[in-house]
Amino acid sequence: MAEFEGLSTCVRCGLSETRQRVVIGSGPLSAELMIVGEAPGRTEDEGGAPFIGPSGKLFFTLLAEELGLTREACYVTNVVKCRPPANRTPTPQEIETCRPWLVEQLDVVAPKFILTLGNTAGRALFAYRSGIGQVHGHVFRSGAIRGIPTYHPAAALRGGPSVVEVMREDLRILGRVMATP
Ligand code: URA
Repeated sequence: MAEFEGLSTCVRCGLSETRQRVVIGSGPLSAELMIVGEAPGRTEDEGGAPFIGPSGKLFFTLLAEELGLTREACYVTNVVKCRPPANRTPTPQEIETCRPWLVEQLDVVAPKFILTLGNTAGRALFAYRSGIGQVHGHVFRSGAIRGIPTYHPAAALRGGPSVVEVMREDLRILGRVMATP
């Protein structure tokens, strides 16, 4: 992608040694809503697109059911663009090394709204220190951008219907925010 020159061959951190593909992002650069996750998993590392595995399937089902939005309507990316071995959490150093790519994506897409999935993305974007249990569904503002953290869909896959219900409520909050000028 011309916009993110050098990202597909990035070797700024050690994750470049174990990844198969750099997972840059998907969706229109004109999207109003940017969705940010943690890092690619195995399916994404093989397929080259974010959230195409089981947790992504659950998330985009919820997004469609609650907000009527499709994957194709949103710009989707991760804080870290390469899969950490065995899906471990990215280290603070990996997150900082990758941050300029995320900043470039924010500059290019210039979303009006951001939804973060899970603590790694929420903390990287909204700089909170508490846990997702305390901040999910809260509205953060950064300049003209309004953002909401919610749970990672992998937590919903593990945690079952109660986590799914919380994510649905957070998505409804996002819907109200998006409908408010
Ligand atoms: N988990 C993430 O955080 N991102 C993906 O793209 C896939 C799974």
